[in-house]
This record gives sequence, C-alpha cells and structure tokens, in this order.
Amino acid sequence: RDSPEQVGLYVGDYLAKRINEFKPSAEKPLFVLGLPTGSSPLPTYQRLVELVQRGDLSFKNVVTFNMDEYVGLPRDHPESYHTFMYTNFFSKIDIQPNNTHILDGEAEDLLHECAEYERKIKSVGGIDIFMGGMGEDGHLAFNEPGSSLVSRTRIKTLAYDTILANARFFNNDLSAVPRMALTVGIATLMDAREVILVVTGQKKAMALAQCIENGINHFWTASALHSHPWSLLVCDEDATLEL
Ligand code: GLP
Repeated sequence: RDSPEQVGLYVGDYLAKRINEFKPSAEKPLFVLGLPTGSSPLPTYQRLVELVQRGDLSFKNVVTFNMDEYVGLPRDHPESYHTFMYTNFFSKIDIQPNNTHILDGEAEDLLHECAEYERKIKSVGGIDIFMGGMGEDGHLAFNEPGSSLVSRTRIKTLAYDTILANARFFNNDLSAVPRMALTVGIATLMDAREVILVVTGQKKAMALAQCIENGINHFWTASALHSHPWSLLVCDEDATLEL
C-alpha cells in the first residue's frame, strides 16, 4: 500500500469483514481478536472506530487479548498499554469492558499472571486473528531478539534498542522507560488461526528485509511467521525499501 493510512483502511476493512461474517453459536459465542499497541496499528484502529460509529460494525460479540504490557507501570500511566488501548480504541467502540484483556504488569505474582493469560485465551477457544506490529529490531510483541520461537506468555527484559525506540514516549528520558514487560510468546502468536502483521515506515525497512529474506531465526522473531499456515503481511512502500 502507498501509505500507513492506506494500510489502516485495508486492515480495518479486512477485520471488519471477518467480524461481520462471524456467526455466534453456543459452542463459540465470541470472535477472539489479538491486538497490538504502537503507532503502526493506529490507522487501523481509526478505521474500525469509523465503521463502528457509522453503524457498519459492532464489537458486541468480540473478545480481545492484547499482546503485551510494561512491568511496573501503573495502569493509569499515560504510556501504559492499558491507557493506550482505552484512549485510542476501547472507549470509542461498543465492546463490553469485561471482554477486553490486557496483561497486568503490576500483578503481585507475574508468573501466575502470565499462566492465567494463556489459560484465558484457551478458555475462549483460542485466538481467531492476531494482529501485530513489529519493532525496529524485528520483534513481535516484546519477543526481543534471541527469544525462543516456542515461547509462551512470560516476563521479558527489554532490549536496549527497544528502550531507545520507546524513549520517545517518555520525554526521551531513557531512565523512565520500563526495563521489563509481560508479553505473549511466539508460540502464543503462532497458535492463532490467522496472523496479520502491520509494518509501516522506513524505520522498519531493515527489519522487514531481515525477516523476509533471511529465513526463520530467533534473532528476528517476526520471521517465525513464515511457518504460520495463514499469515498476512500488510506494509507500506517505505517499509519495503530494503527488499
Ligand atoms: C512496542 C510493542 C510492539 C510494537 C512495537 C512497534 O515495542 N511492544 O508490539 O509492534 O512497539 O511500535 P510502532 O508501531 O510504534 O513502531
């Protein structure tokens, strides 16, 4: 696509079509959507909001699971992923509040929180579509370079590159960026029936080339999607500059 906005229109319309086609049944009452934060999915969220506000889409039969959350950042901190999701998406659509799930980075027992998250995903029948973005180092969610490709939801220490990239959200103060996060694993993502990867901007061009042209490896974790039976990459022109 030509631009991040065009990517957002395409992915938003695609997700809307899949949600609208879903027929709830006694065995499967809810469509299960995995969601990312970051700037890449913003145009998609804008498109989905527009469709809901126009009456062309409803999230009443949708349950969501976010990919990740910082450890130790209060839920109401302006840069928490909870705040991001409520501000940019959940507060603008008709989803039931108890149908949204985000890892709790302030949980007393973080290991338990991660195990519970996997259990909750299983209890609704697994994820139908996981949408993701990609970090400049090729990470999916917070599966930093070197992550196991069979990883599950767990605690991850953030890579220095990620702390640098995300400092822009913390007044460029490196010391304010959390050092750890809770994240779904690569295996959690690979279990989704379908994965859509949204990649925009020249800053991602190198990572995209590594992920596409260098085979599957655990340093560029988004490369794992090569072996997913139903994955779709949607990118803009700028992201393809190194291909
Ligand atoms: C963070 C998130 C990732 C996201 C990445 C890229 O590290 N944990 O899930 O894909 O940022 O963000 P952006 O889309 O803003 O470039």
